[in-house]
Amino acid sequence: MSMPSLTLPYAARAAGLVGSVIDSSTSLLHKQKHDIVRFAMGSPAAEAVPSAVLARIGATDLGEHAADAFDYAATEGDPPLRAALLEVLRGTPDETTADRLTITAGGMQGLDLFCKIFVDPGDLVVVESPTYTNGSATALSYGAELLEVPVDADGMDVDALESLVSAAGRAPKAIYAIPTFQNPSGATLSVPRRHRLLELARSWGSMVIDDDPYGLLRFAGDPLPTLRQLGGGDPLVFSVRTFSKIVAPGLRVGWVDTAPELQQLLINAKQAMDTCTNLPAQRLLTGFLSGGHLADHLVTQRAEYRRRKEAMRDALREHFGDIARWTDPDGGFFLWVTLTNGVNTHELFEVALAEGVAFIPGTAFSPSGRFTDALRLCFASTTPERTREGIARLRRAVDRMS
Ligand SMILES: Cc1ncc(COP(=O)(O)O)c(C=O)c1O
Repeated sequence: MSMPSLTLPYAARAAGLVGSVIDSSTSLLHKQKHDIVRFAMGSPAAEAVPSAVLARIGATDLGEHAADAFDYAATEGDPPLRAALLEVLRGTPDETTADRLTITAGGMQGLDLFCKIFVDPGDLVVVESPTYTNGSATALSYGAELLEVPVDADGMDVDALESLVSAAGRAPKAIYAIPTFQNPSGATLSVPRRHRLLELARSWGSMVIDDDPYGLLRFAGDPLPTLRQLGGGDPLVFSVRTFSKIVAPGLRVGWVDTAPELQQLLINAKQAMDTCTNLPAQRLLTGFLSGGHLADHLVTQRAEYRRRKEAMRDALREHFGDIARWTDPDGGFFLWVTLTNGVNTHELFEVALAEGVAFIPGTAFSPSGRFTDALRLCFASTTPERTREGIARLRRAVDRMS
């Protein structure tokens, strides 16, 4: 993203507003007139969004007897949604209490609220490498200095974390972790590493941002304890959750689960930001949760995403077996592909778009521009048939470059 020319009296922090290659792909793709298989955005497929159920809920809960659904809402969240969410979380690893729960405008607002409250200019913030750069960009917008720590098949390399922090010579203010089916790599932080991460954070007095939007979308293997659960209420753990991946991203509703002592500060910060989260969207979710739809919806989604992941993995085997390796996650939305034939995936992007397939280049997931040989593919949004076509197109694009 280029900055506007510096003729206006910008705040210094404007230079830290680096934008998102990931999000910009949405408007770029809207402008394309030809057929494109879209592996770029991390969205559920249109057909995976429960729009008929939401529309039915809307017709009753937002209808003429619910005029107050268009009013301002309580900043901490609409009481019926808070109650329904607490009920849904009961008995899960993320079970929580009202004094820890604040409804947000999606996961992104949770990350922004965290940084607003904890990150001063110059603070060191650890991010995974690769990472979800919308999160790292939020930290940058508050003046953070980022420290990238490698991710492998077991998630963030906690030994590297320890040595990189020791080399930096100062404790991080925060460690930004996406522990389950990480965006973009699909990697899941192993249980021993989860414990070690919390241990290191405690020894440094660092906050842990536990950003876990994909954990409920596990389609194979046993669920792991969340950082929220392992933290056992530790005030250093700040958990960010969202309905974007499990219900619908356009609703823009999520929540944070934090130490109770933070709740008033979160409310104050949110009041200086957007007053409250969109009330009609909260009411739709209340109907969805209290009507008991989430559990069935998740069962259907998991089965479908497994089918889609397997289709993508099989198509990669067929078309990329000789020139790439890729991750094979048990859930979430993403595969991370590393090309071994020297093609630069940033340059590949335009060629692939012309060929009719879109992905996000690896460099978009590293604040320092690493991963020129990698790319992120979202398997969740595309049917198996279209995925096979898209991967074949991607191979044709790579062949045009090599
Ligand atoms: C790891 C991670 N955190 C946060 C978000 C943002 O969630 P939301 O769309 O609810 O703001 C995403 C969305 O892609 C994500 O992958």
